[in-house]
Order: sequence, then C-alpha cells, then structure tokens
Amino acid sequence: MPTETVYGIAANAFDPDAIARTFALKGRPSDNPLIVHLARADGWARVATEFNEQAQRLATAFWPGPLTIVLPKLADVPLIATAGLDTVAVRVPAHPVARALIEAAGVPLTAPSANRFTMLSPTRAEDIDPVIAAGLACVLDGGAAEVGIESTVIDVTGSEPRLLRPGRVTRRQIEAVLGVPVLLGGDGSKRSPGMHPRHYAPRTPIRLVETLALDQPGITFGTPGLNQVGAPSDPEAYARQLYAVLADLDRRGFREIAVEIVPEGDAWEAIRDRLSRAITPG
Ligand code: TXA
Ligand code: MG
Repeated sequence: MPTETVYGIAANAFDPDAIARTFALKGRPSDNPLIVHLARADGWARVATEFNEQAQRLATAFWPGPLTIVLPKLADVPLIATAGLDTVAVRVPAHPVARALIEAAGVPLTAPSANRFTMLSPTRAEDIDPVIAAGLACVLDGGAAEVGIESTVIDVTGSEPRLLRPGRVTRRQIEAVLGVPVLLGGDGSKRSPGMHPRHYAPRTPIRLVETLALDQPGITFGTPGLNQVGAPSDPEAYARQLYAVLADLDRRGFREIAVEIVPEGDAWEAIRDRLSRAITPG
C-alpha cells in the first residue's frame, strides 16, 4: 500500500500467518518489529493498553502523518508482529489510499517498508522489488510518496521520550509539543530493535563527499553535470526525492554513487541518518 512516507507491505495485524509471510517476503530477521497502522487515532485501544498524555499530545499534533508512537502492547497483537516485545509501534498514515485500505480491511494493518531487508525503501510503486511484488496479492499505486523517507519513531513508554528513528517530524518539533527533552536512541537496558547499521542502501556503493567532481555520478547541491542530480536546499524536498533518485542512479550501473554532505541541524537529522546508514558497509 502507498503511504505518505514510503510504500509498505500490508497485512492483518491480528493474523500471525500473514505477518510471517511479510517477514519472509522481506527477508527480514524476526527480531525486527513491525509498525501497526490505524485508520484513526481512536483505534489505538485495539492494539495498546494505554495511550498516555505524551501519546495524546503527539497524536493531536502529528496524526494523521509520518510519526510512529511506541505504546504498551495489548495481548491481542501477536508477538511475531512486535518481535516478542511488550510494546507496539503505531501510526495513522495520512495517505488517503492507506486509510481507505485500513478502513476497508476493518483491522489494523502491519506495514513494514516494501523493500528487501537493508535495501532502499520504495517511494514509487515501480520501485518495489519485483521479487517482493510477485509475492503480493496486489500493488496499490498511490503515486509518488510526499514525505519520501520512513516515519519518525518515538517511544513514550519510559520515563523520558526517546527518538528511535528520525524522520520528517523532527526532534525539535516533538520537544516543542511535549515540553521536555527527547533523548536519542533506545534505552541501553532495553533492546533497540531494527537499529541495523546498514539500511536504506542501493546496490551501488555510496560515498559521501564534500563536493562532486565534474564527472562523478551522484547528487550535488551545485549545478548538476552529466550523470548528476541536483539536490534541493530544502530538507523536506530533499527527502521527498532521495530514494527515487538513488533508485534511478542504482539502475545505471555506476561503480559508485557520490552524495554531497548535507547541512547540520535538526531539519536534516533524518537525511543524515539515512545517508550514514546507506554508506555503512555490509
Ligand atoms: O514510514 C513508515 O514507518 C513505513 C510506512 C510503510 O508506514 N514503515 C516502516 O516500517 O518504515 P519498517 O518495518 O520498515 O520500520 C519499522 C521500524 C523498525 O525497524 C523498528 O526500529 C521500529 O519501527 N519499531 C517497530 N516496533 C517497535 C517497538 N515495539 N519498539 C521500538 N521500535 C519499534
Ligand atoms: Mg524499513
């Protein structure tokens, strides 16, 4: 299904067999939990035991939209969906097709990004890996994703909120809504699931550079030359095109794709995160 972030592989969140097929199709390790997608915020009670004040504030500010909130899990959600955790990650997507599909299904839907494990997430229906597409009931083409990178993941089950994955909704925006600092990364005593160092990577190796050389294929903030793509100076526009541009460059068989280092600052945090994971060797 399309979402505003990336395309996802949808399955009934209460059906362990369907979820097992999702893991198999992605080649995803079983210790990496899925996000449960709801049509509306008030659906939380079907999958979580509690929706605390921080969750309520975040949902009011950012749902429907690209924010995933980790909540205490209700027993009805099969453990395979949450990789055995007693928490469940939940989001209400903004894409009208995703919401219509969840409504029509009548159940919450798990939906990991529709990529093979560690590969690029698709932001266009045509970028879905053919092996994955062949294993699906169908592909709903909802056009190009508006956000272009995966949702922000925030855990509000502990004494302090923790940012587990940066995204379009930034750390500062979350802090402004909650009125408290947001810590980076998982609590050391808990497992930090899905924090695989290599992720979001095309097949062609990526190298980060200060400035592209004239004949170097890649992404530049300057005037693009041959085999080069211009990078928007606005971080939201940059994120919107990033995976599609990398997917296109990946098909051209270059030895390497060079990407110019992106600016510092909160608004670029998610893009820095994705690029740094894309260059981490196997
Ligand atoms: O934008 C998105 O979130 C997309 C679209 C399709 O909605 N989905 C997505 O799902 O990116 P996935 O499975 O590729 O990434 C889910 C990540 C996991 O890698 C994990 O880090 C985190 O969400 N997560 C899921 N359940 C969690 C939990 N109970 N506790 C902590 N992190 C969790
Ligand atoms: Mg993913």
